[in-house]
Amino acid sequence: MPKNILVCVAWPYVNNAPHLGHIAGMNMPADIFARYHRLAGNNVAMVSGSDMHGTPTALRAVDEGVSPHEIASRYHEIWSDAFERMGFSYDIYTHTHTDHHREVVHDLFNVLDEKGFFYESTQSMPYSLTEQRFLSDRFVEGTCPHCDYDSARGDQCDNCGRTLDPSDLIDIRSTRDGSTPEFRDTTHLYFKLSAFQDDLQKWIDGKSDWRPNVRNNTLNYLREGLHDRAITRDIEWGVPVPVEGYESKRVYVWFEAVMGYLSATKLWAERSGDPDAWEQFWKDESAETYYFQGKDNIPFHTIIWPAILLGYGGLNLPTDVVANEYLNLGATGFSKSRGNAVWLPDYLERYDVDPLRYYLSSIMPETSDSEFTWEGYLAANNNELVATFGNFVHRVMTITTRNFDGEVPEPGELDDADRAALDACDSALSEAASALEGRKFRDGLRAAMSLAQHGNRYVDQKQPWATVKQDRDAAATTLWVGLNVIATLRTLFSPYLPSSCEKIHGMLGLPGDIAADGWNRIEVKPGTKLASPKPLFKKLDESIVEEENARLEQPV
Ligand code: MF3
Ligand code: ZN
Repeated sequence: MPKNILVCVAWPYVNNAPHLGHIAGMNMPADIFARYHRLAGNNVAMVSGSDMHGTPTALRAVDEGVSPHEIASRYHEIWSDAFERMGFSYDIYTHTHTDHHREVVHDLFNVLDEKGFFYESTQSMPYSLTEQRFLSDRFVEGTCPHCDYDSARGDQCDNCGRTLDPSDLIDIRSTRDGSTPEFRDTTHLYFKLSAFQDDLQKWIDGKSDWRPNVRNNTLNYLREGLHDRAITRDIEWGVPVPVEGYESKRVYVWFEAVMGYLSATKLWAERSGDPDAWEQFWKDESAETYYFQGKDNIPFHTIIWPAILLGYGGLNLPTDVVANEYLNLGATGFSKSRGNAVWLPDYLERYDVDPLRYYLSSIMPETSDSEFTWEGYLAANNNELVATFGNFVHRVMTITTRNFDGEVPEPGELDDADRAALDACDSALSEAASALEGRKFRDGLRAAMSLAQHGNRYVDQKQPWATVKQDRDAAATTLWVGLNVIATLRTLFSPYLPSSCEKIHGMLGLPGDIAADGWNRIEVKPGTKLASPKPLFKKLDESIVEEENARLEQPV
């Protein structure tokens, strides 16, 4: 029975261009996971979009003298375009500034309100005297009351991970100009998060298979006791609040952005011509829903969004929240606010997609922070993609096409080494399947690369280029086995390197597309016409390391 699998990817803020740190931790794992499940025959929807609202976008607009909508639309185009070029297989990539999203947010909002999960309260909030506006959470900084970290933001401490309110900060200051804000009274709607404490605790207790960082982070919040949160803001840019008297306020950006997972699935269903199709992911209790994101997003996906879903009722809670640690650039972090980053649109102008997908997958920050270096990129491309995987495919393909009229040869009887190579295909497929199902993407990639290494050793030992002259039948058997290993590598690598694997599929003369064969070892048929082999990957010159490092040091 195919499973219904919803793949939810965090919605990026669109006030700047994407860099490699973003995609390594959320888009890459999500795309690999979605592609694997499609190959395994499951029913997948991968949904996300741009997080258009929020203060960072509004303030960038002020700085540039344009409307927030203009900033958000400009970067939304840039992110969508880069995602498409990266081959991310979204079933829908929308954004939060649509009528559709607003309607879904209002529905959730109204139901929660009717059920009594909101209340009004007047509290003091930081107000900038220099800018004459309330400063939202992300634009105030101060010392964290829990861990003493001196640059905690108004919504969250990046050091200890706890969510904060601006009034929790010690020595509060504006990140815009360093001035000290004054606290002024303002009235907002509050969400009774505290009402969900017990239900969330029970739910998390059952999630022993979650990554320890996600589970522990969530358990910490619950241990501290959940606090009610203001869900409206004094800002003009955002989703209007469907409550009288709130005309000048907007829904808190985090509160509405997480609702995008549901609104996007509904929009996808509408566009696919079956408006009820979203229910198979959100209402069918056997459906599985996975959320991919960076570690700073954890509480919004393990506490706030589940509380909204519980309050609304009848919708599936996350099966797993797959949060990654950070990918750092050399010694300094990838950060949009600092210039020191490898920008995705820039990368795409100069290099191919699959080497990046490969390298990012091999260093994915699954259990601890990891580091991107151009040296590492070069080595991954030249030593692993070109010298191991690419080389294996190319030599088996060229020896075959040269000596057997460009056709799959007829094998003779198999010996132990032949059978061991085919067995290695089966075990790599099952090893990678359990790694991928368990959200261990580096292990899945390692299983694929080990099979390529096995293939190289096998061909080294059999030397078909030599035996073809004395014992054509023996060479035919070796090459037939080699082509079968290539067919399996095409499956194993395709969640990671989709376009290279499509090329292999074409070179093997296989009909249809890879997905049609499923997550299985297929046998190549003797007599099938092979396409002329082309190298899959390009060796890069060592000079790129110095070039790229110099580029990183240029001021932006
Ligand atoms: N825009 C947020 C960020 O970049 C992530 C939002 S994920 C969502 O950190 F689910 F809330 F949309
Ligand atoms: Zn802290």
